[in-house]
Amino acid sequence: MYVTRVEKITTLAPAADGRFHVFAFDLVVTVEGPVDPEHGMVVNLSEMKETLRRDVVQRLAGRCLDGTNGTPELRTPEALARGIWGMLGGRLGQIPVRRVRLAGGRSVFDYRGGDTVDVTRVYEFSAAHRLHSPSLTDEENLRVFGKCNNPRGHGHNYILEVTVRGEPGETGELLEAATFDTIVATEIVDRWDHRNLNEDLAEFANLNPTAEEIARIAWRRVKDPLEGSAPGRVRLHRIRIRETDRNHVEYLGD
Ligand code: NI
Repeated sequence: MYVTRVEKITTLAPAADGRFHVFAFDLVVTVEGPVDPEHGMVVNLSEMKETLRRDVVQRLAGRCLDGTNGTPELRTPEALARGIWGMLGGRLGQIPVRRVRLAGGRSVFDYRGGDTVDVTRVYEFSAAHRLHSPSLTDEENLRVFGKCNNPRGHGHNYILEVTVRGEPGETGELLEAATFDTIVATEIVDRWDHRNLNEDLAEFANLNPTAEEIARIAWRRVKDPLEGSAPGRVRLHRIRIRETDRNHVEYLGD
């Protein structure tokens, strides 16, 4: 069973120009283990909190992580996530850590041991669509899609999450945020935002633009540019489309 604890962490990271980045993240640590038959827990949560605060948060909070004054040198969130894993020795007491996540702003960094890290960036776009399958009759379309079959369409504020996986490069980053954002803006957000997906976009001309199809098209559009930006090092791992705050789809490729 998995147990997750969230702490807040704020540090400074030295930038190339001699200034600093402020890293303000939710530190999300997940452990996995059996439920102890005596106390009914995987881990004592107050001990988990104490350990995380003592071994990680207090050692890093408010410090500049430049490798001096006893601090570790952790210049990127990717390195920070991996460094925190190392500070815990991959365990919380006897219980193995399964994931260290740093989440802040529009980025999520996940480290699960090994050489790779997952980086997720979060985007938004607003678009109209109509759910309608040409292979069904009008009556069947109405029955299957309900009000989503409304002939004049309806809109959503979509949340798009794009996750890449790989080994950080020489800068310590997996993929520079500006590169990531330019690719996703060019291929998806700038194309789809404030559009009618059915009527305005060639990629949906012959597709019913369900969240599932939107995720698949998004995958196809960003896969080559993202992976091509760091050949052999970065792979597209997941597309998540949140159509409402009550439903989302995830696509991990075929
Ligand atoms: Ni809809």
